[in-house]
Amino acid sequence: MCRDLLDWYDVHARQLPWRVPPAARRAGVRPDPYRVWLSEVMLQQTTVPAVKGYFRRFTETWPTVEALAAAEDGAVMEAWAGLGYYARARNLLKCARAVVAEHGGRFPETAEGLRELPGIGPYTSAAIAAIAYDAPATVVDGNVERVMARLHDVHTPLPAAKGELTALAAALTPEARPGDYAQAVMDLGATICTPRRPACGICPWRTPCAARAAGTAPELPAKAPK
Ligand code: ADE
Repeated sequence: MCRDLLDWYDVHARQLPWRVPPAARRAGVRPDPYRVWLSEVMLQQTTVPAVKGYFRRFTETWPTVEALAAAEDGAVMEAWAGLGYYARARNLLKCARAVVAEHGGRFPETAEGLRELPGIGPYTSAAIAAIAYDAPATVVDGNVERVMARLHDVHTPLPAAKGELTALAAALTPEARPGDYAQAVMDLGATICTPRRPACGICPWRTPCAARAAGTAPELPAKAPK
């Protein structure tokens, strides 16, 4: 089933400034873990369109983790202005300095190793491990929860359904191309399996999707009654 999604991603992957396109990845081009980390921290509470410009300016000013670690705190806070959640910017600097001081400028390659760093929680560590290193880590964000709830027609409301949806996502994560797979589910959730009016007719998972068969896709994930 993940084959259908990866085939779709090969054609429809969004072009994003931090992303190595699927064709290049398959030809052996590896993403820079610094750029993957920076983009994932910026995307934690901010949308893709809002992040793009900030990502470009940051990587132009500080092209490496060493450059960012050596930056003045004030210059980084100023460049972050407008992205909000300023604790993220402070942790960003702390993390860059820890990677340089404690890891010789190289990001750890496992989700567990990445979790030890400031500002990196379960979602971000899994995303970096999968996207930067093709580790078979399961990446679960709001998009993934929605896609899993629909694919398996899970009616338990969030947050109670979190454990079940995470297990379903883990069961689907492929050993080949886990990085592309993680990004493919994100793109599916952002462009087709959208919260309202999902485009089920053109979805690569329209055949196996249980919610499409049941006609429940637009209602899922279920909301807890108030
Ligand atoms: N949202 C969070 N991380 C993302 C990524 N790597 N690509 C697209 N959307 C995302």
